[in-house]
Amino acid sequence: MHNTAAIVFRDGTTRFVKVDKNELLMDAAQRHGVNLPVDCREGVCGTCRCLRESGDVDVEYIDEEALTEEEIGEGHVLACQTRLRSSQASFYFDIDSNVCSVATEVHDGTVSAVEQVSDAAAILEVTLDDPAQALPYLPGQYARLEVPGTDEWRAYSFATSAVKEGRLRFLIRLLPSGVMSDYLRDRCTPGDAISLEAPLGAFYLREIQRPLLMVAGGTGLSAFLGMLEQLAEKGECAQPIRLCYGVTQEQDLSELARLDALTEALPDFAFDTIVMNPSEAWRGKQGVVCDLFDLDFLAQPFDAYLCGPPPMIEASKHWLEAREVGEHRVFFEKFVSS
Ligand SMILES: Cc1cc2nc3c(=O)[nH]c(=O)nc-3n(C[C@H](O)[C@H](O)[C@H](O)COP(=O)(O)OP(=O)(O)OC[C@H]3O[C@@H](n4cnc5c(N)ncnc54)[C@H](O)[C@@H]3O)c2cc1C
Ligand code: FES
Repeated sequence: MHNTAAIVFRDGTTRFVKVDKNELLMDAAQRHGVNLPVDCREGVCGTCRCLRESGDVDVEYIDEEALTEEEIGEGHVLACQTRLRSSQASFYFDIDSNVCSVATEVHDGTVSAVEQVSDAAAILEVTLDDPAQALPYLPGQYARLEVPGTDEWRAYSFATSAVKEGRLRFLIRLLPSGVMSDYLRDRCTPGDAISLEAPLGAFYLREIQRPLLMVAGGTGLSAFLGMLEQLAEKGECAQPIRLCYGVTQEQDLSELARLDALTEALPDFAFDTIVMNPSEAWRGKQGVVCDLFDLDFLAQPFDAYLCGPPPMIEASKHWLEAREVGEHRVFFEKFVSS
């Protein structure tokens, strides 16, 4: 006995998958070669979110970080927590179908450099052992890295537009204590073997038809470094782009020279920074990242891309909802504990 789920993508592609009794929508889709975005599989990260358009379902668990009450009320569910209760059901995923046809692979790599770029962040550079092995991804997507010497895996957004000469970079926050943070601070040495699984995630630039608001909290900047680098390399983006970059302390600001270079490389790109708890010596802006949002810029239709800690994403979404701003779409990647 099985039910049928229609999986509808934003580019119009629809796939039908047979879902066994008590099988999760996510597992059924994967069995049929439809690799839906997935990370935690526990109803926490929201990566597998979709809109139930028809049919009855049982949803096991939805963490408040994954979907808001309002989104649940609108019919959003999580594919990793959803079972079908009717013979047919339809689910809309706000991503392009080609993202899901790319199977993830585990790649062997070697740490080629590690650099502490601020008090609370490091850049990890990994070189793939087999440069001929393709690792196609879209900037904004992420990889899961196996922390050397452990069997723990952690998710990190690509900080480069593509694999270049076999190399990849990641901008990683150093927590006072954590499996990856401790490894990077205490033991990481060029030459260490490191495995990575990629590509993952559905956070990537959609076709750019209107101005872009990019909002980075802390190392959420990583995804935007990759996206902006891609736009600069393509040289096709005529739309204005504003990046608002917020951190806790001024020492957390990273990669400012790279952002300066991107303002030169892109026709209409500007960024601003803000610090929540600065020292007395700080002469820049103090506050939260939403304090940087410019109502004049946001009066026109725009697309918003948000990346970083969940509270920053929620605050930014609420700010936009509560103001009279232009018609907009919001895409986000929450750095939940992975
Ligand atoms: C899709 C995705 C993409 C991500 N991309 C990035 C990225 O590009 N750069 C990056 O720095 N991080 C990113 N993260 C977060 C990252 O995967 C790890 O969760 C984080 O680096 C902590 O790992 P750790 O091993 O050092 O700490 P852990 O051993 O996992 O945690 C140690 C302790 O710190 C807490 N903790 C974990 N994360 C946080 C946090 N963010 N803030 C406060 N406390 C925390 C844990 O609950 C635990 O108590 C991403 C997460 C997701 C889901
Ligand atoms: S993969 Fe479903 S909520 Fe994280």
